[in-house]
Amino acid sequence: MNLSTRYLGLELKHPIVASSSPQSKSLDGIRRLADAGAAAITLFSLFEEQIRAEQERIEFLVGKTTYSSAESLNYFPDASAYTVGPGEYLDLIYQASREVEVPIIGSLNGVTEHGWIDYARDMVDAGASALELNIFFLPVDIDVSSEEVEAQYVRVVEAVSGAVRVPVTVKLSPYFSSPGDIARRLVGAGAQGLVLFNRFYQPDFDIENRVVESRLDLSQPSEIRLPLLWISVLYGQIGCSLGATTGVQSATEVVKYLMAGADAVMTTSSLLRNGEGYLATLLDGLQAWMTDHQFESVEQMKGSMSLKHCAEPEAFVRSNYLKILQSYAGPRQP
Ligand SMILES: Cc1cc2nc3c(=O)[nH]c(=O)nc-3n(C[C@H](O)[C@H](O)[C@H](O)COP(=O)(O)O)c2cc1C
Repeated sequence: MNLSTRYLGLELKHPIVASSSPQSKSLDGIRRLADAGAAAITLFSLFEEQIRAEQERIEFLVGKTTYSSAESLNYFPDASAYTVGPGEYLDLIYQASREVEVPIIGSLNGVTEHGWIDYARDMVDAGASALELNIFFLPVDIDVSSEEVEAQYVRVVEAVSGAVRVPVTVKLSPYFSSPGDIARRLVGAGAQGLVLFNRFYQPDFDIENRVVESRLDLSQPSEIRLPLLWISVLYGQIGCSLGATTGVQSATEVVKYLMAGADAVMTTSSLLRNGEGYLATLLDGLQAWMTDHQFESVEQMKGSMSLKHCAEPEAFVRSNYLKILQSYAGPRQP
């Protein structure tokens, strides 16, 4: 059975990748993920704001500026709240890329194309095989148009992919009027991969204490549906690698994502719930499913249920929505 896959030009031994999480915050954690069998490891993100705060600190220390964090940085936790600062992040990439045999993907979270792009180059010099760019932009100012937001995404991708010699993949939000169009424009701007989708951590309300809660819940398998839809749609229509993230709790979700057309399937919540060793369970489950269903390679599975290859393409379109609404037969029995 051939489990290998190509993601961002990297040859992976199988498609299951550890996505950004606190498990990659130390060399030990990275070693554990690699020993447990992750095909590649995407590190936790370094934020643009962290890099800029560090640069301000350095400029202040060498007397080049007064130490006055920009207004945009004021909501950001103090740099000391982070266990890993920009310097340590580069050290981690340097050591991890020499100690583990699987590709290390650096992760940057930013929204502008100024002041921190050089850092992408430093990550590559330190040993990152690829970069994942997480653009978490929340346009709460309702005067900002969707065109401006999309243009900003394109500028950031152009700036980062123009600065480095390794593939850049973009962890995308699902909230675009036309996800396919922005996906194509980001590929035009230099992205060699897209990761669908960034899980937006939406605030909740504590109604007793009347405070906004920002709690982070781990994902559920039902959350795969949105990325599954768009990976199915984009497969074969866009010239880049596709990574799937969100909702993988068992081999079933891995199989679904591959059949939609993902080149790599990522997981965080399942590993935080069950420990790094759970990677072997996912991989064994994938192999068992492939054996039972006579698939000889991951390549053969990829995209077999995508919009392009699906026996019922109408299942993806608006008319199916009507059918679903009419066919509702009450809650599923457990
Ligand atoms: C505790 C925690 C920390 C995370 N940190 C990051 C991060 O630093 N950068 C990032 O791009 N995604 C981060 N994520 C998102 C995950 O990489 C992943 O995309 C998301 O959890 C959905 O995948 P899952 O359903 O497998 O958990 C984090 C998720 C969790 C639960």
